Amino acid sequence: MAISRRVLIGAGAGVLAAGLGYRIWDRGVFASPSGEPYAPWDHWQGGVIDGLKRPLHAAILAANPHDTQPWLFEVNASDSITVYADRIRNLGSFDPFRREMHLGLGCAIENLVRAAQVFGYTPYIRPVAGKLTLSPPDEPKAIAHITMDPGQPSRDPLFEAIPNRHTNRGLYRDREPGSGVVTGMTAVAGDENVRVVFLSDPGARRDMADLIIDATQRIIGDAQMSADSARWIRTGRREVEDHRDGISIDNAGLPSSTVMLGKLLPDLDAATQDQYWLDNTKSTQVHAPLLGAILVKDRLDMAQALAAGRAWQRMHLTAAATGLAAQPLNQPVECVDRNAQLGRHDTFRHDLQKLTNANDWEATFVFRLGYAERPALPSPRRPLDDVMKSSGYA
Ligand SMILES: Cc1cc2nc3c(=O)[nH]c(=O)nc-3n(C[C@H](O)[C@H](O)[C@H](O)COP(=O)(O)O)c2cc1C
Repeated sequence: MAISRRVLIGAGAGVLAAGLGYRIWDRGVFASPSGEPYAPWDHWQGGVIDGLKRPLHAAILAANPHDTQPWLFEVNASDSITVYADRIRNLGSFDPFRREMHLGLGCAIENLVRAAQVFGYTPYIRPVAGKLTLSPPDEPKAIAHITMDPGQPSRDPLFEAIPNRHTNRGLYRDREPGSGVVTGMTAVAGDENVRVVFLSDPGARRDMADLIIDATQRIIGDAQMSADSARWIRTGRREVEDHRDGISIDNAGLPSSTVMLGKLLPDLDAATQDQYWLDNTKSTQVHAPLLGAILVKDRLDMAQALAAGRAWQRMHLTAAATGLAAQPLNQPVECVDRNAQLGRHDTFRHDLQKLTNANDWEATFVFRLGYAERPALPSPRRPLDDVMKSSGYA
């Protein structure tokens, strides 16, 4: 009897261990990001055989909201590319005007034109003019036409930084970047309708940090925003392989022990995920030697949204090329849009204007910069063929 109980216990332990082993494998508990969802980071330069499509390998590695990858590309005859907003890949009430979607498209255009120049084209960009409107239809919409005239191949350190640029949500050191960083970033980001403002003074940074935390609390208290964000959170290896998009725990900037535990345990519900986000925002993400904002004249102007996105991509590539880490922290502007959608009184727009000391401008993007404790990992990408526009779209 005693023997058979021991055998039973042994068999039970074996099944448990096998089950645990399966879960560890299935969820990729010890695995760092690798495999097909990350392959586009290795093929980022494409090949001569790709022709006009070649710079698109770099375009799809751009920053974009929640890694929704809201883009489609159409190569027309032999000399132009049309960029479309794939508007079904939206964040709903988190981005009710699709303003962030257009910033992300601007980021992709920046990578595209940098790569095109290196490969010997002279790209000429014509953004589609117009205003962003509330909850637009989901059909793809052309947002820019890019003519690719022949040119001379060139070298570009920002192009070379493309595969090394990753959003870093972890701890930043208490080390001031030199004053040249602010000057360099300001120069790289500026444009007639785009300005960048840096906050290095501790008081101003504290006020901005409070605003970001306040906005995060509002967002997680808004059931619709929380649900719309949760749709793009991917848990475990399988989900990442199936979708090749979204935010996963590998990219959350958490310590590796927390990441492993998070993958092993059952999936967290949206409320628990939100609480982690808030805690991490307070403890880690609002702390950096530099906080700042990208400003435009009109945040709902389509061309200005693209230009602001291009500015962020240039800044983040400059950061990557010089060993700096960067993270967008857009909660306050997300609240401005959500309040506008609901016709609610808003204080965030005014607070951002006061903090950035720019009355005739409005913030469309908030970020932090600094030296990170640990490098960030790449995020998944869909294959280029999946984002080439096939006929049938309007
Ligand atoms: C318009 C825009 C808004 C973003 N907002 C945030 C944000 O508020 N918090 C954050 O951690 N990352 C934010 N990101 C970063 C994206 O989540 C990130 O670019 C995406 O997941 C792809 O990852 P990668 O930048 O490492 O390639 C934003 C990016 C863009 C372009």
